[in-house]
Amino acid sequence: MFAERYKKRLMVQKTSGLYRNPPEVTTKDGKYLLMGGRKILNFASNDYLGLSISEELRQKASHNFRKYGTSSSSSRLVSGNYSVINEAENLYASYFGYGDALFFPSGYQANIGILSTFLEKGDTVIFDKHIHASSVKGMTMSGADFYGYNHNSMTHLEKRLAAHRNGQIAVLTESLFSMDGDILDASGINTLKDRYGFLTIVDEAHAFGAAGMEGRGIAGAIADIAVGTFGKAFGFFGAFVLLPEGFKEYLFNFSSPLIYTTTLPEAHAATAMDILEIIAQSEDRRTHLRDISGYMREGLRREGFRVSGDAHILALMVGDEEKAMKLSRRLLENDLFVLPARYPTVPLSHAILRISITALLEEKDIKSFIARIKEANDEIT
Ligand SMILES: Cc1ncc(COP(=O)(O)O)c(C=O)c1O
Repeated sequence: MFAERYKKRLMVQKTSGLYRNPPEVTTKDGKYLLMGGRKILNFASNDYLGLSISEELRQKASHNFRKYGTSSSSSRLVSGNYSVINEAENLYASYFGYGDALFFPSGYQANIGILSTFLEKGDTVIFDKHIHASSVKGMTMSGADFYGYNHNSMTHLEKRLAAHRNGQIAVLTESLFSMDGDILDASGINTLKDRYGFLTIVDEAHAFGAAGMEGRGIAGAIADIAVGTFGKAFGFFGAFVLLPEGFKEYLFNFSSPLIYTTTLPEAHAATAMDILEIIAQSEDRRTHLRDISGYMREGLRREGFRVSGDAHILALMVGDEEKAMKLSRRLLENDLFVLPARYPTVPLSHAILRISITALLEEKDIKSFIARIKEANDEIT
């Protein structure tokens, strides 16, 4: 019986401390979440620049939805190939310095859409072992042979490149890693690219908008293909893929996750153009984000915590899954929201608290977080 199987599996999840049961959030209010009648300071949001709650963007988005309506009502390949979508994609391609761009309904779908289509049997994929679940899924669907290299290790990547020279080779990585918070060794990749020659596909979901000159990200010159999501620093939803010329046409013809899905509405594309203008002018937000992220990282380290992360994502090492859950619960009792990342998101017994910083937070919020987590940790250990 299916139901019996699910019940048993859920029981195993519970007994091994891996059960997932997200708390219900009533709504959000600026940097706070409203939960159970309480205002909780949010340290688990990817709204890095705080755009999702900005009045300016709300007004532009509502204007666009009023103007264009609410749905495209069709796949891009049927009657959904609207001019405004093409205009927005061209704008994104030129802003980020690529031949072409293509919007997808989500970053998860974008990674599946490109990887399962561009790669195929006979190709070799060499991937950083910490890439996102959507990239792993897309890569496995492609039929290509794939080999992992140790996280951000250029020595190990080179070993893999030297050992696997069959067919065409692609290297998959992220630029700002979603769980570890560290930054890609772009110059290391560049050196190996010169030496071995491969297609580089970089997921910049956590970097575009929030990092790099005018939010242009980190991988720049070394990424042949880059993936961005609107759901993080862009304060919106959906995703974009940046491509060399000719690759978009290939996706239109062969990418099932693109062909057989309703395209995002025209209002989305119009809003995406408005957002790009805001992103270009958000240097003050990016500077503040960088400053308070550094403040949090150094403050936690001073209190003796093991913290990794080069930018606005910080991974506080806990190890034991149960302890990570307890810490998170204690913080929530103190009106601070941060969730543990546990297996299979991270390896077993390597649970972390994944702290994401947004430009909505202030120095006093960071101070309060550091004081409360220190108290909670002292009580638990
Ligand atoms: C690195 C990375 N790529 C892709 C995605 C998926 O993007 P989306 O939320 O738009 O589906 C995420 C998380 O959401 C991510 O962290």
